Amino acid sequence: MKAFVYNGQPGRVVFGNGALSQLEQEVDLLRASRVLVLSTPGQQAQAQAVAGRLGARAAGVFARAVMHVPLALAEEARAEARRLGADCTLAIGGGSTVGLAKAIALELGLPILAIPTTYAGSEMTPVYGITDGGIKKTGKDARVLPRTVIYDPDLTLRLPVGLSITSGMNAIAHAAEGLYAKDGNPIMEMMAEEGIRALARAMPAIRQQPADAQARGDALYGAWLCGTVLGNVGMALHHKLCHTLGGTFNLPHAEVHTVILPHAIGFNAPFAAPAMRRIERALGTEGSASAAAALFDLARDNGAPVALKDIGGITEADLAVAADLAVQAPYWNPREIGPDQREDIHRLLVAAYHGIRPD
Ligand SMILES: NC(=O)c1ccc[n+]([C@@H]2O[C@H](COP(=O)([O-])OP(=O)(O)OC[C@H]3O[C@@H](n4cnc5c(N)ncnc54)[C@H](O)[C@@H]3O)[C@@H](O)[C@H]2O)c1
Repeated sequence: MKAFVYNGQPGRVVFGNGALSQLEQEVDLLRASRVLVLSTPGQQAQAQAVAGRLGARAAGVFARAVMHVPLALAEEARAEARRLGADCTLAIGGGSTVGLAKAIALELGLPILAIPTTYAGSEMTPVYGITDGGIKKTGKDARVLPRTVIYDPDLTLRLPVGLSITSGMNAIAHAAEGLYAKDGNPIMEMMAEEGIRALARAMPAIRQQPADAQARGDALYGAWLCGTVLGNVGMALHHKLCHTLGGTFNLPHAEVHTVILPHAIGFNAPFAAPAMRRIERALGTEGSASAAAALFDLARDNGAPVALKDIGGITEADLAVAADLAVQAPYWNPREIGPDQREDIHRLLVAAYHGIRPD
């Protein structure tokens, strides 16, 4: 066995259908008495319901979270937390809402209680991102790691099917890259493989019956595992490409992950054979389809976009800019990435643009 360092992230997870009923005890454990509830405008009703449950312990609701945490919004939310004398934030929603709680925690140190309703996984990471002047700055800080996470699959029953599949692919991307991470370890590899398996099992069932509580439980369990991998080990080419495309062309987060993943995995496959075997085992395609092809099929067969041209916001001509950016300050990757690989990356992006199934 190769040598490794394992650095666990502290955090309490309460999981199960109906787990939201334990909210009050969890707030007590955090010793919080003035909770600021955060959500997107679309989930305001859920946020109000949660605040209603907390009664006098809810200091207020700030239902204005948006994708990528604009700095001006982060400052307004911090000011609101200060004005209300909040001693905790509760983020109910996806990565955008958890991201806003993190921006508050970064400056005010308020503990976060997260109630994730997508599969993005931000609730399990000490990573934050704030966008200023069109540039998203990311960093790591232990203060932004949620203290408590309540995973209640019942809250995801109405997550639209399209977003359920792309968000699930986003989660799988964390696990897939975690399997070849430079700082990987056997615990994260187990979690990654199991996370991919759980999500891949859940997707067709959710597509058939969006309110299937068992499938929603599998998917959220998978999202937890994949998010844990994201929070513990470094990401590589796939995440670099998605950050570049998402940041530069303002493309939707989960869809970009869905389209790029098979191509990034195919690109790295010859340099990460054990990771490919684990992905194929998790997807049940050993001997029949490569990891890259199997990921492509998983997205396509569940109705998700598989071509950049179909998600809009980017033209084929833009891919040259994206390729230039992707080889600048590259992340560590099992296959070397640098100016000499610019043409290979451009080819990868063209294949993703047209939705060509990788071998
Ligand atoms: N810091 C990290 O570790 C990390 C990890 C993953 C993602 N992110 C960030 O998170 C953001 C993306 O998060 P996301 O993909 O979860 O999208 P999101 O949080 O923007 O949610 C997408 C939309 O779905 C709605 N929604 C969420 N759950 C719902 C539900 N159960 N039912 C109905 N509607 C629901 C939301 O209100 C929102 O309108 C990006 O900014 C990304 O960079 C950060």
